[in-house]
This record gives sequence, C-alpha cells and structure tokens, in this order.
Amino acid sequence: MKKLFLGVLSLLCAICASADGGMWLPSLVSERIDDMAAKGFKLTAEDVYSINRASLKDAVVLFGGGCTGELISGSGLLITNHHCGYSHIQRHSSVEHDYLKDGFWSKNTAEELPCEGLSVSFLEYMREVTAEVLEGWEPGMDEASREDIVKVNGEKIVAAEKEAHPGLKVSVEPLFMGNQYFLFAYRVYTDVRLVGCPPSSIGKFGGDTDNWMWPRHTGDFSLFRVYAGADNLPADYSPDNVPFKPRKFFPISTAGVKEGDFTFIYGFPGSTQEYIHSAAVRYIAEKSDPAKIGLRSLRLDAQKKHMARSQKVRIQYSAKNASVANAWKKWQGEALGIRRNGVVDAKREYEKRLSAWAAGTRFEGICDSLERVYAELEPYKFALEIYNESAAVVEIARAAAAFVAEEDAAKREKALKAFYKDWYLPIDKESFEAVMTRFSELIAEDQRPSYFNESLQLYGSVNVWADSLFRSSAFASESKAFALSPEQAEQDPAYVFYKSMRDWAQEYAMPQIRRINRRLDLLNREYMQAQMSFEKDKNFFPDANLTLRVAYGNVKGYEPSDGVRYKPVSTLKGVMEKDNPEIFDYNIPQELRDLYASGDYSQVPVCFLATNHTTGGNSGSPVINAEGKLIGVNFDRVWEGTMSDIAFDPYFCRNIALDIRYALFIIKELGKADNIISELVLEP
Ligand code: ARG
Ligand code: GLU
Repeated sequence: MKKLFLGVLSLLCAICASADGGMWLPSLVSERIDDMAAKGFKLTAEDVYSINRASLKDAVVLFGGGCTGELISGSGLLITNHHCGYSHIQRHSSVEHDYLKDGFWSKNTAEELPCEGLSVSFLEYMREVTAEVLEGWEPGMDEASREDIVKVNGEKIVAAEKEAHPGLKVSVEPLFMGNQYFLFAYRVYTDVRLVGCPPSSIGKFGGDTDNWMWPRHTGDFSLFRVYAGADNLPADYSPDNVPFKPRKFFPISTAGVKEGDFTFIYGFPGSTQEYIHSAAVRYIAEKSDPAKIGLRSLRLDAQKKHMARSQKVRIQYSAKNASVANAWKKWQGEALGIRRNGVVDAKREYEKRLSAWAAGTRFEGICDSLERVYAELEPYKFALEIYNESAAVVEIARAAAAFVAEEDAAKREKALKAFYKDWYLPIDKESFEAVMTRFSELIAEDQRPSYFNESLQLYGSVNVWADSLFRSSAFASESKAFALSPEQAEQDPAYVFYKSMRDWAQEYAMPQIRRINRRLDLLNREYMQAQMSFEKDKNFFPDANLTLRVAYGNVKGYEPSDGVRYKPVSTLKGVMEKDNPEIFDYNIPQELRDLYASGDYSQVPVCFLATNHTTGGNSGSPVINAEGKLIGVNFDRVWEGTMSDIAFDPYFCRNIALDIRYALFIIKELGKADNIISELVLEP
C-alpha cells in the first residue's frame, strides 16, 4: 500500500516537473538545453543564441513596438501576423486599392510599399549588468534612493555602451522583480516595406467571434521586407536602399506537424506576473477582471446594437470594437482559469509553507507584509482601473481633451476630422450612461470626485446628465466643434467632464499608488529572493518584459471542459464549414471558394495548438521544430488558458499558431505570388 502511494506520489511529481511553462533568456538557454534535448530538440545552445556566429536569434525581430517577426529569406523577407501588420496595411488602403479587403501581393521589389514609422529591431547581444547597476547601493537604503541609483547607473551604462558600439540601441531592464539587471543591445532597421498580405477575410477570418478560441481557422500572416543601406546597416527610407541580408533566416519545413512534436518559440513576450502573492491574484480574478469585464460588456452591448443597424456604423466601430473585445475575452478566460484551477488557494498553501520555512530568517513575515500592503493598495488601484475603463473611454471627452492639448491649429483640425469620421453619438452616449452608472455602483460616494456627486445631484440621474452633456457640448456637433477656440473648448462640458474625472484619478489614486508601490517593489524583490531560496532546485524564469525569450513545448490538443476534447490541428475543411456570406466574420473570398471546389484541398492545414508559454507580444513569433525549421507563426492563445500570464497550467494553456503550410498555400494558390515562394527555402 505504502509502495503504491509512493509510486503515485512520484508520478505526480513527474507531472509537475514536466510542466511546460517558462519564457527563458536566450543567453542562458544552455541551462535548459538538456531538458530541451530530452524533449526532442536537436540543436545546440549555440545554435539558438550565440554572439560569435550566426544563430537563430539573428532571424527574430521585435516588429514595431509590440509584436515579433522572423526572417524567411536571404533578402530580408519577413513574416509576422496580419494583425501585427494591420495598421500599415490599412494606411496603404484606399477605395481604389483596398488591401484590407482584397489583400496585396507585390510582383517585384519595386511594388513593395514603404511603411512610415515601422521599424524592426534585431537583438545583437545581451549581458548581465546587475553589479554595475547597483553600484553604490546598500541593503537597508530607502527605496527612493535605490530608484535614483538604478536610474543614474543605468543611464551611465547605456551611454558607455552606445559610445563603444555606435549605431546600437541599448537598454537596461530589470529581471526577477529588480534582483537582476540585463543590458540589451539592438540594431534597429527603419526602412521596412509591405510585400504581401491576404485579404482580411482570410487574415482576420473568424474576427472577434473566434478570437482566443479553438477550433481556429485564421490565416493570420503578412509579409514585409527589411531594407538597408549599401553597407547592410540601417538607413532611413530611400529608393536607393537594398534588401537587407540577414545573418540568419529560417528555412521552412514542409513536413508538417502532428500531436506530440517538439515546438520552440522565439519572441518578445510583453508582460507576465508569475511570482505575485495570492492577494494580488485574488484581486485580479475576483475584483479587477470582473469589474473590467462588466464595464466592457456595457460598451460592447451599445456598439453591437448600433453596428447591427447600420453598415456605416459597423465600419466606423470595427477597429474600436475589436480592441475592446480582445482584452474583454482574455480577462474572462483569465478569471475562469484562476478560479477553476484554484490558483489563489494553491498560492496560499505555498505561502504557508514558505512562511514556515522563513521563520527565523531575514524573510520572516514577508507573506504577511505583502498581504497587508496589497490590502492597502487595493482601493486606490481599483479606483484607477475603474476610471480607466469608464470616464477615460468616453469618446467625446477624449476628443475635447485632445483638442485642448493640441496647440497647432492644423493638427487640431486633422484630429477632429479623424474623430468625426469614426464617431457615432448614440454609441458614445449610451456607453457614457452605462459606464458612469456602473461607476456610481462601484465607487463609494465618499471616494468619488465631488464633481461626479454634484452632477448626479444636479441632474438626478446619469441619464439626464448624459442628455444634458451630449446636448450642450459643442463637440456633439462637427460644425460647432470646428468653430471652437481652445479657450472656449476649456469651458465645454465634455472637457470639464474629462478634466474633473482625470484630476480625481491623479489626485485621489495616483499619489497613493506611487507611495504604496515603492513599498511593494521592495517587498516583491525580497519575496522573489525568498521564493528562489525556498525552492533551490526549481528553475525560475524571469517574468516577461518585452525582451527576447525562448519557450518550448509540443503540439497538443486539450480538453476545455468535461466531455470535450480538442484535436491540435485544423484544416481548410473547417474554413469551408464556417464560411457564410451572410456573416461578416466568416465570409471568405469567392476565389477561395472556387479554388476549394477545383481540387482536393480539404486537408490543407490551417492552424495548430501547442503548449508553449506565450503572451501578448508573442504575436508573429516563429514556431520552430526540433531541427530549427519554421513550422508556424504564433498568433494567439486559447481563452481558457490565458491565466498563463499568472500561472501556467499545462492542462489548459495552449498557444495557437498558423501552420506555415497555410501561408504557403495562400501565397501561391490565391496570391499567385510565385516570386515570393521562389525566395523561400523549403525543406522536407
Ligand atoms: N487575441 C490575439 C492577441 O491578443 C489577436 C488579436 C487580434 N485582434 C482582434 N481583436 N481579433 O492579441
Ligand atoms: N495576439 C497576441 C499578441 O498580439 C498574442 C496572443 C497572446 O496574448 O498570447 O501578441
């Protein structure tokens, strides 16, 4: 009996040890390489990251400010997500050339479209600089002095590095809650051109209905090319620039994927909070997420109602609706996952064990201190979050604020024009009524801005207040707004609303948050150390902070709920099953229907699921197989697993990738862009 019990126990431990979570620093990948090899990886640590020779890292870029992209040809060709290239595709689109609707395929480099403002950053090298950053700091110093030291030393290190390596962009970033600092040096290319993209009905297929969901059938990719000066170094846009020659690019695997295959993701994950105290997790899952979801539901309801009634309004609000819906759905999965997995209780139990271990050490009492300080922070943080999701999203108030803040008359007019092009008063007014009513329910009377209480008293209800505001504000009418002077605008009720609410957030919430966060920074830094000493044998990875990371796992389906099992791959058959000309999100191009009818294409692969630990910023990341070949492009996670930003659970957490063979199929068969295909290196 005892033997059996021990056997089960060791099996359980094997399961916890095999959890695939982790976003590892590439320069330290040698610490993971044995585990990766055991799981099927065939390359060496030097192949992944090297500063002496070309390695996989040289084929990965930070695309713009918040996505990842990867090089796929020796002539600077790069692939990322359609949703990452979206704003640039949109900027090049007009009624005559609607690349969003029809897609775009350049036939030669002369047809490629320069993208103003777009840059890609290659990580040249990284190294630890903790000792230099903390020079002059001593334990026991107050937090404000530490902040100053870190800032001054950090600036000095960056300046010296830039002088030694002209042309590089250098930053120093904290890791492990400020227990370590690393320097990152990038080469930033600013001439990047659009090469191709599928129509949105493929690149955004499924829209927000399918977003964060499986089964998924989105062809979420777009193609760009990096250009350089004659010396292959960064140069601002010039017709004389030439395609950049990367040190490394990914060959494309045509062999395909199957359940269990090793997968490896290289990219720039934005932010995670894996080591926070249970009090912070409880706040997120039980208080913050539900309140924010509720506020966004109200706005989505108003948008949906009016978007369904008018084609014009649907277009006006499609981008706004997508961005409101994206986090709304993610938070729902996060709160659900935290609840369903008992993350708060598991953390509490862990904290109990850690506290017992910490007795008599310098970490004694750390968990209790964190609990107390989080309790102190909570009302202010909540107030700020509610403000950000209510008063701060009233469109007419934002337009008034932008108008007052802009000194240049021409720019003011341009901004107004852009505002009215995509603004529909009934949506804004109904959203105002709904979110400000909710504000009064969520924030106690004695904490609210006096302006808010006085307005309620004056008008009797939020709805009557809204009637008055949207009737009397000059910003409610385009022609009146254009006739305003900035001085008049400052008296406008929409501006008064904006300013009174913002001042409240800045005076009531912000100073307290800053003050309490100083204490939290110190405690969290200590708590991180405590966790690392408590679990000496555990491999800790630093939270994501938009620096380059590697994550590995394998192709795998999942069971979202009792009785349901998802396969890890989707095919073109599923695209056709969803196809519906009546529903915007599922209306595929006629060419794809014709193509499908013309041959046996039902098994063309479209997307797949894997267990890699990813987050926002990993969009566009290369998904690489055991041999280092490209098998997919990451673009999403499943909503049941978005708790992975806080706690990775191998049972529910999956990333979603575009199968690279779908991109090949679309480029070749739909785009007829053989010129692009011929640049690629395809390998079985
Ligand atoms: N959920 C993916 C990611 O966060 C894709 C987002 C694309 N936008 C959308 N609203 N569908 O960011
Ligand atoms: N779509 C996300 C992005 O834009 C990636 C999905 C995620 O959050 O994992 O980066």
